[in-house]
Amino acid sequence: MTRLGTAWTAEHVRHVGEIFRQGRNPAARVYESIGPDFFLAPAPGWLNLGLWDGDGAGLADEAEAACRRLVETIASALPPGGVIVDVGNGLGVQDPLIAELVRPRRLVAVNITERQLVAGRPRLAEASAAPVAGDAARLPIAEGAADGVISVEAAFHFSSRKAFFEECHRVLRPGGVVTMSDISTERRPLGPAELLSGLTQLRVFGLRLTAAMTARQIAAAAAAAGLADVQVTWCGDRVIAPALRLASARLSSAPAAPAGHLAVARLLLAQVDLLWRRHIIDYILLRATRP
Ligand SMILES: C[S@@+](CC[C@H](N)C(=O)[O-])C[C@H]1O[C@@H](n2cnc3c(N)ncnc32)[C@H](O)[C@@H]1O
Repeated sequence: MTRLGTAWTAEHVRHVGEIFRQGRNPAARVYESIGPDFFLAPAPGWLNLGLWDGDGAGLADEAEAACRRLVETIASALPPGGVIVDVGNGLGVQDPLIAELVRPRRLVAVNITERQLVAGRPRLAEASAAPVAGDAARLPIAEGAADGVISVEAAFHFSSRKAFFEECHRVLRPGGVVTMSDISTERRPLGPAELLSGLTQLRVFGLRLTAAMTARQIAAAAAAAGLADVQVTWCGDRVIAPALRLASARLSSAPAAPAGHLAVARLLLAQVDLLWRRHIIDYILLRATRP
């Protein structure tokens, strides 16, 4: 696993190459260059933005609690004791937490990046979770085999949310639940600053234009896949806003990272800040049931 905090690595170079010439698996390139000591991760090993209480003023001290709270909130919809599929499990830190909360009969961690599954081995072992390299749009799970699907902050990376929801419908038993978080695009960027920010973020994070969907479009895609009781909660003020404050404070404290990384991080952060302040992006929690 790479160390973004120390120097440029082959994975970083491949990641930059992918920005200009997107290959078949851009999300994998992105996450291969992000290791457990990524200097902008809210807390070591965590790759989600956290669900914060208050305005994030406690920042670093609260970061791990915020990341755990996000997973706990999403996982609270899962049925206990069943077969649970965690799609886009990051570096595996969330899996022991899911195991502790839900006591699944079986926990399967699916990730497009095999490297993250390897890096997460100790956490996956602790959670008794089975690591599976696979794609959310073609889940390597038998029809009707799962009681719950959880996906924390990963769906905007999937090649198609429609395909992911159809897969949830296929792999869940009747009454099974999908519970997830996602980043929505609530309106199209207008003008040069917004357009440049939006397009840069898409390229840097290896996202397709189709990743930009409003929360209502995401909910409609879930319903169109046959899922019922689709519930959406908007919570960017408790996720994006405090996470931006934390990242900005961390960048001001001159972290140990190459100057090039810091300059790029500052630019990207300013763009996300603009997209958030101008109500272009938001953060949502979504729950739905397989009828
Ligand atoms: C922002 S990270 C979130 C990681 C983790 N859920 C967390 O909250 O710390 C997105 C994750 O989704 C994974 N991912 C991206 N595209 C995927 C796909 N098509 N199928 C499965 N996993 C995918 C990435 O490798 C990464 O682990």
